[in-house]
Amino acid sequence: MFRELTAFQGKKDHFELLCFKCKAKYEIDDYGKFYHCSKCGSLLEVVKTSNYSSGTKKRPEVWKYIDLIPLWDEKNIVSLSEGWTSLVECRNLAGILGLKSLYVKFEGLNPTGSFKDRGMTVGVSKAVEQGYKNTMCASTGNTSASLSAYSSRAGIRCIVLVPKGKIALGKIAQAIAYGAEIYQVEGNFDDSLRIASEICEKDNRILLLNSLNPFRLEGQKTVAFEITEQLGGKVPDYVVIPVGNGGNISAIWKGFRELFEDGVEGIAGKHSSEHLPKMVGIQAEGAAPIARAFKAGRKDIDPVRDPHTEASAINIGSPVSWIKSLAAIYDSGGSSDYVSDEEIFAAQKLLASKEGLFVEPASAAPIAYIWKLARAGKGDVYEDMKGLTVVSICTGNGLKDPNALLKGVTPDQLKTISADAKSLEKILA
Ligand code: F0G
Repeated sequence: MFRELTAFQGKKDHFELLCFKCKAKYEIDDYGKFYHCSKCGSLLEVVKTSNYSSGTKKRPEVWKYIDLIPLWDEKNIVSLSEGWTSLVECRNLAGILGLKSLYVKFEGLNPTGSFKDRGMTVGVSKAVEQGYKNTMCASTGNTSASLSAYSSRAGIRCIVLVPKGKIALGKIAQAIAYGAEIYQVEGNFDDSLRIASEICEKDNRILLLNSLNPFRLEGQKTVAFEITEQLGGKVPDYVVIPVGNGGNISAIWKGFRELFEDGVEGIAGKHSSEHLPKMVGIQAEGAAPIARAFKAGRKDIDPVRDPHTEASAINIGSPVSWIKSLAAIYDSGGSSDYVSDEEIFAAQKLLASKEGLFVEPASAAPIAYIWKLARAGKGDVYEDMKGLTVVSICTGNGLKDPNALLKGVTPDQLKTISADAKSLEKILA
């Protein structure tokens, strides 16, 4: 039996749509007619002004936190049971890295294999609620896979722009399978997003679902609630995250802040600010405008014109959410750094071979960073981190991009034996 769905009367009064920078207020249901603050041009943010309680039975997934998500009617939910991914305690790796307590939040276990599903279930539900028949995104791969899955489930058209030749095979295969309308752009991700933004600004029939969309980030913030629940109501000390556009780190920080400011029913009461985690954003060396800005003590970025990393998911030179991500890093007392591609691939193998967790290259960047600190064996961040609880967000599944790992290795290079046990017996003796 399906339970009755609820329209949430009065819920809208508990949320506002504000400019992230100048705090100008906008009509929340008009989002999609515009994407930036008309006064100062900055990004928009959904802000919860007071707690809302619907009293509905909670589902075991992202929508468990429905009262904290700005959707006005339950019947508009488009879901694939995303969220509630494993928080895996990594004792082997903690030993190698010299940490007391290390967890991996394995976001690759989401329905399309990345954290984007948390955002897209909310973004596409909102598209349905607002009557959109078309969605669009630019993507380095995962966003396109996720948006096309949720759009097809909602029965709406999905247009995807990807930088030509720079997308992992598994991700493009997903977008093709889910039936998206795919265009390859002769340029990089930043060019693709510029085009998508221009089109959606002009054509109000198409909703842009990149991470500048604040409703998408409202879904992504739920990982903060889950981690806290999975740690038995304890907020971790450090959260280390790969950063591309900067949307995810800002969403997760927003989730922890909401926990701290208001408490979340059933998870934790109000926290004092010392209990909020330090947010650490890791980029790839060839695409690291946010990390470089932080290292220079700056509050703005110099975009990288020709970004390059084999961790294709985070090959972004002009991150659209730079202002929110730098705020998350500075306000949390966190940090930001970059790692080389070799460090990323070594960390990907380490995580798989020591803990059985196969993540995509970009998702191994946080482990690469902690490993780099451990090898140096010193530094304020490492000294602090050593005795505390560290959560690494591993954003995507390794199966999406096997070519990146296998580079140069083909199955015919593996040892071959004849089809009888004796030949293997000899080898194993
Ligand atoms: N990790 C993975 C696996 C990603 O796919 C992305 C972003 C990030 C980390 C960075 O997250 O942009 O919020 O800072 N992928 C986007 C995409 C750009 O198109 O799939 P961010």
